[in-house]
Amino acid sequence: MSTPFSRREILQKSLALGTLVIASSHGPSAMLHALEQSEERKPTPPNDLGPFYKRLAPETTSLRVAGDPGMPLAVSGQIFDTRGEKLSGAVLEVWQTSHVGHYDVEGYRYRAKLIADASGAYKFDSVVPGHYPDRVCQHIHYLVTAPGHKPLVTQLYFATDPVFDGDPDKNFSRDPLIHSRELVRPVTLAGDPKDIIAKVRFELCLERA
Ligand SMILES: [Fe+2]
Repeated sequence: MSTPFSRREILQKSLALGTLVIASSHGPSAMLHALEQSEERKPTPPNDLGPFYKRLAPETTSLRVAGDPGMPLAVSGQIFDTRGEKLSGAVLEVWQTSHVGHYDVEGYRYRAKLIADASGAYKFDSVVPGHYPDRVCQHIHYLVTAPGHKPLVTQLYFATDPVFDGDPDKNFSRDPLIHSRELVRPVTLAGDPKDIIAKVRFELCLERA
């Protein structure tokens, strides 16, 4: 039987009712946090590699350089496996178009290799990609690899994409390549009015090989 409560909620309720006692000097919140970190996860849905992947992208977290036109974008996330283990050292390759929908096929603009840190976290700065004729939605391509795990090829989409008319729940399938709503990520606007930045979180989960 499925339950409407998360494991954390059940544990918190049990603590409140006294049916669970935590006997540790680290206290309830640290213990619950540790449990949460090891929670099982669903693998991230795969998505097409597309024709514009290029090997040997430079290792950098700055895809955007000073003066680049377009809406500045900061993407961050964490890499896990299905057991909830953080995949420190996972390698991500990301590639996208410029803000006007142009892929650099001669060079490596808006292409990068990233290494997840000790907590499996990654981040990069870029611009919100543009639309291009053969694709309906703005997207960033990902290829993620980690020893002992199946490589993950997927794409990140933006809930603010005008194609969704403000309702990605209803309209995500307007792009026939989007089979999973969870690849469409919420966008947070941060910064100040003269210096707005779009922020997106994209957690990834790899299956064991
Ligand atoms: Fe693409």
